This record gives sequence, C-alpha cells and structure tokens, in this order.
Amino acid sequence: MKQNIAILGAGNLGLSIGEGVVEKKLVNADQVTLTRRNTSHISGYSNKGFIVSDNNLEAVKNSQIIMLCVQPKQVEKLIDEIRPALNDDHIIVSVITGVEISQLQEYLQLNIPVIRCMPNTAVAIGQSMTCICTNGTGKDHLELIQSLFETVGKTLVIEERLMKAATVLGASGIAFFMRYLRAATQGGIQMGFHPEEAQLIAVQTASGAASLVLENETHPEVEIDKVTTPEGCTIAGLNEMEHSGLSSALIKGLMVSYEKIKNIRS
Ligand SMILES: NC(=O)c1ccc[n+]([C@@H]2O[C@H](COP(=O)([O-])OP(=O)(O)OC[C@H]3O[C@@H](n4cnc5c(N)ncnc54)[C@H](OP(=O)(O)O)[C@@H]3O)[C@@H](O)[C@H]2O)c1
Repeated sequence: MKQNIAILGAGNLGLSIGEGVVEKKLVNADQVTLTRRNTSHISGYSNKGFIVSDNNLEAVKNSQIIMLCVQPKQVEKLIDEIRPALNDDHIIVSVITGVEISQLQEYLQLNIPVIRCMPNTAVAIGQSMTCICTNGTGKDHLELIQSLFETVGKTLVIEERLMKAATVLGASGIAFFMRYLRAATQGGIQMGFHPEEAQLIAVQTASGAASLVLENETHPEVEIDKVTTPEGCTIAGLNEMEHSGLSSALIKGLMVSYEKIKNIRS
C-alpha cells in the first residue's frame, strides 16, 4: 500500500492495528506514525521502525489514512487539533465506539471521506472480526480500508444502522465467549482436571468448534448432529443446558447489551 497511515491514539487497539498491518507487510513500519500524548509508553516502537510522536498535526501532514483510535470523549478535541492539516486527500477511519459518521463530519466541518470500523480485541493476534460502514465519498475508499483490516482478521461491510448490533455481537462478544470458556474450565476441574489442563481442553475445543463452522460453512446444528449419539452423553448434557435456558440466556444477554448501547449517547 503506498499510503502512509497515522494512528492517532496508539493505545490497545491502535497499536494492535499498527503492528498487524506491518506484520502482514501491507505497509512498512516507517509508513506508520503512532501518536499519543504520553509517548514514553510507546517509545519502544521506534526501534521497530515506526514513527512515534506526540504531534498529531505532523502525523496528519505525513499521512493519507488518518485513524482515530482515541476514547469517544477525546475525539472532538483531537479533531479540533488536526483540522488545520486535513484536506481532500485524507481518509478518516474511526474505530471509536458509538460516534456516528454524521457526528464525526460535524466535528470535522470539512467534506472528507469518513469510514467507521468496529474491530474487536482479537485484532492483537490478527483474528479480529471487523465490521465496516461508510457513506458518500467514503465508498470510493471502502475497498482500501477493508484490505487494511483484512490483514488483522475478517471483515464485513454493513449499514451504519447495524453498527451498534455489530459492537454487541463482535466486540462485546469476546467477553461473552470468555465467560463460556471460564465455565467450561470450572466444569473440567470438577471432573478431575488440573485448571491449566481443563482450560487447554476447553479453549482448544471452542477454537476447533468455531473453525469447523467457519471452514465447513455449515450451520452449528449440523456439527452438533455429528457429535450427538442417540441416548448418548452429549445430547443428555445439551438438553439439560437448554432446560436451564442456555440459548435463551445468551439471546437475552445480547438483547440487554443492545438495549444498553442503543441508549448510550456519545
Ligand atoms: N478495545 C476494544 O475492544 C475496542 C473495540 C472496538 C472499538 N474500540 C474503540 O477504540 C478506541 C480505542 O480503544 P482502546 O482500547 O485502544 O483505548 P486506549 O487503550 O485508552 O487508547 C486510547 C489512546 O489514545 C491516546 N490519546 C488520547 N488523547 C489523545 C490525543 N489527543 N492525541 C493522541 N493520543 C491520544 C491515549 O494515550 P495518552 O493518554 O498518552 O494520550 C491512549 O493511549 C475507543 O474509542 C474504543 O471505544 C475499542
């Protein structure tokens, strides 16, 4: 990719994206500027070839793709700071939760393409699920930004009205699955495994189950049928979980989370 990238707010997510795109050789490290106010936390990245800076304005001047990776409350101030350096050649990419494109355009006060992306923390190991949306002139750059996020996982282009649902299913989803892994591990310990053994079995099994659906492109129920012998232990366990409301609890949890995010104002 010939464009330089400015990652403004190189915290957890920003750093993971920066590392991902360099590791997958989409760009060279010296094409990526990482900024934060306190650069002492990221000074080590200059040894890896990244440009590390506390100067957002300079970062914007030297880049075409401007990634906004700060917290929602910090974005208005950040945009005020970089506005003098912004022009038509820039593409704004925001990973900020809950701040809509129209709101960003209002802050920008400029007609610049804006693309919103919702990755999850698995971006750190190149396994993110990133939902992407845009409108207007952003559509001309959608493929480019999608290719950028393809280096750190899978992507899906969605309508902006679904961005909150994507946050619940994809970003909060990491926490929901972690709770399953914890519970499965606890069950394993009760059956006689040491905690680390139980965790390994639970985690690798969950990873294998997800990969079966992804790679075979099957419905989960097809994979369940392959494991459930008539009168066997799997169907007995599954039915007991359903009597206790497993599917219902998951769907209800997702919907409560969704109701909550719908009512959060940025
Ligand atoms: N973590 C997730 O799973 C996830 C998923 C999807 C979306 N998001 C969104 O992604 C954004 C970043 O999340 P995160 O977890 O990476 O947060 P984070 O670790 O707090 O990173 C934000 C960074 O922004 C820097 N910063 C703040 N103001 C700045 C400014 N004016 N100029 C330059 N840097 C500035 C902060 O460092 P200094 O204080 O040193 O400046 C901090 O390192 C959030 O809006 C979040 O909603 C997160």
